[in-house]
Amino acid sequence: MGGLPFEARLLMNASSDTPGNARWADRAAAVMPGLNSNYASFRLPQQPPGIVIDRSEGLRLIDVEGNDYIDFVCGMGPAIWGNGNREYLGAIHEQIDRLMSCGSAVAHVTNEIELAEKLTKIVPCAEQVRFCISGSEADQLVCRLARGHSGKRYVLRFEGHYHGWLDPVFSGQVRQDKSVPPTAEPSPADSAGIPASSYGETLLIKWNDEQQLRETLEAYGDDIALVLMEAIMCNSACCPPKDGYLKTVRELCDEHGILLCFDEVITGFRTGLGGAQALYGVTPDLAVFAKALSGGLPLACVAGKREVMQELATNRVLAVGTFNSFPLAIAAAQQNIAMLERDHGAYYQRVDQIQARLMDGIQAAARRHEQEVLLQGPRGFFYMDFTARDVIYTPDDLQDSDLDKRLRFRSLLHEAGVLIGGNSRFTVSGELTDEDIDDALVRIDAAMAQL
Ligand SMILES: Cc1ncc(COP(=O)(O)O)c(C=O)c1O
Repeated sequence: MGGLPFEARLLMNASSDTPGNARWADRAAAVMPGLNSNYASFRLPQQPPGIVIDRSEGLRLIDVEGNDYIDFVCGMGPAIWGNGNREYLGAIHEQIDRLMSCGSAVAHVTNEIELAEKLTKIVPCAEQVRFCISGSEADQLVCRLARGHSGKRYVLRFEGHYHGWLDPVFSGQVRQDKSVPPTAEPSPADSAGIPASSYGETLLIKWNDEQQLRETLEAYGDDIALVLMEAIMCNSACCPPKDGYLKTVRELCDEHGILLCFDEVITGFRTGLGGAQALYGVTPDLAVFAKALSGGLPLACVAGKREVMQELATNRVLAVGTFNSFPLAIAAAQQNIAMLERDHGAYYQRVDQIQARLMDGIQAAARRHEQEVLLQGPRGFFYMDFTARDVIYTPDDLQDSDLDKRLRFRSLLHEAGVLIGGNSRFTVSGELTDEDIDDALVRIDAAMAQL
């Protein structure tokens, strides 16, 4: 149906005439408890329509009925080259023939050494790196490293940030009562099955609030091992840090002898080669990278100060994993970075152009259909919402935005063949063609007309 006029396609989708997808969805439901990752914005009332993807063509995903979807999800972040870049894929094929698997606890592999050397050159905080598989694991490691290094108990984290799905950092809300210390407390949105004890191991406060951070560190700094944050709050509305906030965080951590970690799982390699830390000129002690590090295969790393990372060399802190530094993913990351560096960062210039066109086009559609739309985000991705605000700094700022409209619009986009992320995030690949963008803007306009 990729060739059908787009209005016809909307009509077909609206009439739920999608037997292929529906049949596959039934088969899926019989053997799997839902999608293999729960919806990112946990327990939101409205889920996207059931689509079953079969293959890709460039930046288009094709479902079992032949419908094409322009891909602004990019594998939830990793697929910086989409699915079909021959040069990137060629490097992975070559590595399969050379060495597919070795065993992370057995020996170093040449390509992991080369990649580690490269990362220490391009990421400001990276004096050493340790590889693992997923962002969740890397966030777990960073917490263990900080506690092991400092001998202190708490990790301080922030409302609206996400650091993976493992128990110690997954759940909780900011304390409603003013009891102390401000440990996370259970929230109605939390998963069942999380031990009560895990809430007590992290402090949870609001982000972009310098005063609250200052007071918390003054009161509890002696017990805080790590301040852990996304430097841009990508998981809630792609909120930017307020002017000077990150610099103040850095100074306060130094003052109180607390390690600072930027979780760059989303910002890494999307905003630029050095991540958000290079963008804002603030260097943390530790950082976590995953998603776009490899450009598509599962790979993550913790990067940081030698003094802290050495806890792993001496075996004071342990981190193990069969697939850590998996040669295929390492080769993919090497190829990814080589291509990103090429021609003085031509890839990033292309992303800037595409993103500007896309954002301008969405705003133009919003004006045509008399909608107030906010778009915000750095290079590589942006958040879209229906609100009169011109910037959102915290989840509190979302209270006056129209959640229902945002969710309906996302469903309409999916029906129109534009896939965006769970929390209304567009991820922008430099592989999008001009035709993809033209097409996406037509579809976005028509979805807006349906609101
Ligand atoms: C900022 C951040 N940290 C950590 C994670 C967890 O990474 P993974 O899904 O690879 O475990 C995510 C995932 O979306 C993330 O956005």
